[in-house]
Amino acid sequence: MRIDIMTLFPQMFEDFAATGIFKRAVSNQIIDFNVWNIRDYTYDKHHVTDDYPYGGGAGMVMKPEPIFEAVENIIGAEDKNKKLSIIVTTPRGRLFSQEIAKELAEYDRLIIICGHYEGIDERVHTNLATDEISIGDYVLSGGEPAALVIVDAVTRLIPGVLGSEESAKDDSHSDGLLEYPQYTRPAVFKGLEVPEILLSGNHGEIAKWRREQSILKTAKRRPELLNKAGIDPAEPLKIKEKAKKPPKKEWK
Ligand code: 6GU
Repeated sequence: MRIDIMTLFPQMFEDFAATGIFKRAVSNQIIDFNVWNIRDYTYDKHHVTDDYPYGGGAGMVMKPEPIFEAVENIIGAEDKNKKLSIIVTTPRGRLFSQEIAKELAEYDRLIIICGHYEGIDERVHTNLATDEISIGDYVLSGGEPAALVIVDAVTRLIPGVLGSEESAKDDSHSDGLLEYPQYTRPAVFKGLEVPEILLSGNHGEIAKWRREQSILKTAKRRPELLNKAGIDPAEPLKIKEKAKKPPKKEWK
């Protein structure tokens, strides 16, 4: 997959591209990652990228010309046959999710335009972009952190990006439930014990316990996800009641 970022702050992507899983995906040529400075596509003396809003009001608006120019500059004739999405990051976009990450992972090319100031000239949204994405109901100073979130979530779904060690299948949200609790050594830390079942070596019982814990955590923090994951709404209560019952006495 080829990913191009259009931004006024290219340095915000440097550490990300130079670190960990993403860096490895780029050096293994699974991801072709490019960051472009919108300011380089201005031709006036002061390299102006924003201007006052028509109709008045506070704040500045990003001008359309440098953004169109930057995008047109990196789309070639060969892209006609490729699946390309041109995304604008904006708080008024559709709400990003694991579902949308899966959808975007199917593309050959993503171009992500990072918004700034009070917004971007509407013609970028309507005549250049093919998608508008928000990462949540809060306000960021700019679209760069949102672009990083999207790139990270999408690229880890591309075959070969994660090693088998990092396999994504048990992650929170991949099956619609939150992840079960994890423990590592020591078995007792500051008097806090690891649940006995995890030390039992009984893989069937461990899998069952983990699924129950996922359901309980999801019921507590994100109850709206249970329905989507196809879990019976009575299930969390059943698990809790079962946990309360003393284990059956062995008889001799
Ligand atoms: Cl994509 N941009 C900005 N500026 N704020 C946001 C956002 C995006 N998503 C949530 N808040």
